[in-house]
Amino acid sequence: MMTGIRTIYADYQATTPVDPRVVEAMSPYWSDSFGNPHSSDHAIGWRAAEAVHKASASVAALIGADPDEVAFTSGATESNNLALLGLARRAPPVRRRVLVSAVEHKCVLAAARALAEREGFAVATIPVDREGSIDMDALARQIDETVLAVSIMAVNNEVGAIQEVSHISGLLRPHGIIFHCDAAQAPCAMDMGSLANYADLISLSGHKIYGPQGIGALYIRRDLQARVEPIIYGGGQQSGLRSGTVPVPLCVGMAAAVDIVRSPEGADERKRLARQRDSFIRLLRDGRFPVAVNGPVRDRRHPGNANVRFDGFSAYDVLGSLQPRLAASTGAACASGVPEPSHVLRAMGLSEAQADSSIRFSFGRFTTDDDIEEAAYLVVEALESLAP
Ligand SMILES: Cc1ncc(COP(=O)(O)O)c(C=O)c1O
Repeated sequence: MMTGIRTIYADYQATTPVDPRVVEAMSPYWSDSFGNPHSSDHAIGWRAAEAVHKASASVAALIGADPDEVAFTSGATESNNLALLGLARRAPPVRRRVLVSAVEHKCVLAAARALAEREGFAVATIPVDREGSIDMDALARQIDETVLAVSIMAVNNEVGAIQEVSHISGLLRPHGIIFHCDAAQAPCAMDMGSLANYADLISLSGHKIYGPQGIGALYIRRDLQARVEPIIYGGGQQSGLRSGTVPVPLCVGMAAAVDIVRSPEGADERKRLARQRDSFIRLLRDGRFPVAVNGPVRDRRHPGNANVRFDGFSAYDVLGSLQPRLAASTGAACASGVPEPSHVLRAMGLSEAQADSSIRFSFGRFTTDDDIEEAAYLVVEALESLAP
């Protein structure tokens, strides 16, 4: 926006700016090393294929997998659709049930709904508790040998709840149930080096981790790959799992982003973010308005996430009056432009009014201590101006 006023960005869970090191890593692949990685007849194609292979290795290393278990997609939305629709379309006749948590991203919920409405699957929703954690007893009650797959995210995009994936995996494995985990928000929130030991399919996204938009990945455990029907047909690239020319610059960018996030710098960043997030909440509480935090306690929460409720205020009014100085959001980016109460907060037991009073602030790599102070000041000032 060309207002001349600086905007503090506190919406890193919606998307992240691309890290300058990622831009640099990508730059040779636009016009110098521009080959089609599937051109197997010449050296330019071979070099592009080598870059894609290296990128798969980085992404695989993030979750403790092998490069041939990773397929690049256009983002986590596509990965989630490929996982759920793909598994369902090759499901054995005895497994016609799919379970999803109540706090999944809309793309998982919508794909599951399509399975119910168009493909004859029985889809059930697993509830969460007041903090957004999966109700393990409810999950345990639902599972048996008729369930094909369970889809539960690693880290929630609205309240930052980190789920206990090892516990979930332990419940599912004895029944031969496939565990799909949407980990789009996980790399900046937790060490996920052993996630592939627990989840059978894992969705990732480039633009949540300081990589480019338009690229994601789906990990599919090697022995399950034959059980996934593609949702895009074509030249049979990526072992037939996802046809279409693989976008080399985007893959290289996603891999560079992954390499940063899984380096010691990633762990330091998580610590710094938790400190900044806590200080933001403390500063808000210094104001005269009651401030409630939605979601789990500190160590089971995305370190950059503060989902805060200002009872008696409309989140839209607060966000509106903060423009253009502070960018935060009500939670999931709303594609339709029609505001609706957050399904995540409602599933956690909040009333519609409480959900409508909640704002997600999410901090990230380029957030400074000054940003935190100024952001808190701006929010308190906005509340003052809106208070009756
Ligand atoms: C948990 C989660 N899953 C999936 C997505 C969709 O990711 P993409 O934008 O890469 O399609 C998002 C993005 O908002 C997300 O936060």
